Amino acid sequence: MNDGSAKDLGVSDTLRVACLGAGYFAQFHYDAWRRVERVRLVGSCDQDPSKAKATGLTAFSDLECMLKMAKPDLLDIITPPPTHFSAIELAIRKGVKTIICQKPFCTSLEEARKATKLAEEAGVIIVIHENFRFQPWYRTIRQALERQLLGDLLQVTFRLRTGDGQGPKAYLDRQPYFQEMPRLLIHETGVHWIDTFRYLIGEPEAVYADLRRLNPAIKGEDAGYFIFDYSNGVRALFDGNRLLDHAAENCRTTLGEALLEGTRGTLTLKGDGSVRLRHFGDKDETLLLAAQDWPGFGGDCVKNLISHVVDGLLDGKPLENEARSYLKVIAIEQAIYESDRKGQKIREFDCA
Ligand SMILES: NC(=O)c1ccc[n+]([C@@H]2O[C@H](COP(=O)([O-])OP(=O)(O)OC[C@H]3O[C@@H](n4cnc5c(N)ncnc54)[C@H](O)[C@@H]3O)[C@@H](O)[C@H]2O)c1
Repeated sequence: MNDGSAKDLGVSDTLRVACLGAGYFAQFHYDAWRRVERVRLVGSCDQDPSKAKATGLTAFSDLECMLKMAKPDLLDIITPPPTHFSAIELAIRKGVKTIICQKPFCTSLEEARKATKLAEEAGVIIVIHENFRFQPWYRTIRQALERQLLGDLLQVTFRLRTGDGQGPKAYLDRQPYFQEMPRLLIHETGVHWIDTFRYLIGEPEAVYADLRRLNPAIKGEDAGYFIFDYSNGVRALFDGNRLLDHAAENCRTTLGEALLEGTRGTLTLKGDGSVRLRHFGDKDETLLLAAQDWPGFGGDCVKNLISHVVDGLLDGKPLENEARSYLKVIAIEQAIYESDRKGQKIREFDCA
């Protein structure tokens, strides 16, 4: 196993990066890669050649061909879950040393475990593209928690209010596949807060969930709650409803609002990305992070994640959300659906 430093990866001070997938979300990846230093984009592959071509990079429609011709150090997988395992397996076989894979990672916990094991045995790094923890407001909130600005944290709430889920045309203009997904709210979107709560508070010891389908035009659930219990008494509530909105010029900046409450103060995240602290007993708030005109998606979190990986690889810094650690997110997601099905709290998250 290598330790992930540039020397061990056999790369110089520039990473050769190739991307698989050129659909809706890939636009944010290509834009971000182009703004990151110490990177050379060497190819784009999509089964639809016109999409790969439209990226302006050397275009491929076959992954094996791209890996052979472009010889990337890093493969960025931006295709849906059914493509993940075979792409990872092929990339490892063809000598790629680092893979970034979009969430949801593979089609099941079992498949994700298999991919993780394959990579570990080959000394290949897989980082899951779980970008929400890289949103600047969550970095600010975590710093505030580390500085004990809230005293003892007692509870956390995130209200997801995307406002894009009403009526028969819901999601069709941006992500039409949402309508057909048997599991939508948690598997597609709520999963970001499974990870973000872990990033901010740590590993939960139990979950409870209550999920609903409100829009009859779609297959999966589009509203619901999950609650995480922590051993120190903290509770974290995710309260999601895709039919409702929140006060924001763009409901997709933060996708909702957060409240973190402790014995000495309260933090609020607004829909413009700003974070404020109110001390216990005060009416006034202090601004900890001002809203900005961030480029890219969600406070430029795609670029933040990509830069984190590049710096980690080239400067030998530790990486967040490597595949082994991300298995926990998938296990917790399974527990959420199990809790909803059984109507009871789930305490066992099997992710070994
Ligand atoms: N992290 C986030 O914030 C975020 C946001 C949106 C989507 N996503 C994830 O990104 C992934 C892609 O989502 P999207 O919205 O871009 O989907 P999309 O359907 O718009 O694009 C997928 C692309 O992959 C291509 N493709 C599919 N199978 C392929 C194969 N075997 N070989 C080559 N190309 C193939 C398709 O032609 C298409 O261009 C999904 O896993 C989704 O969950 C993540």
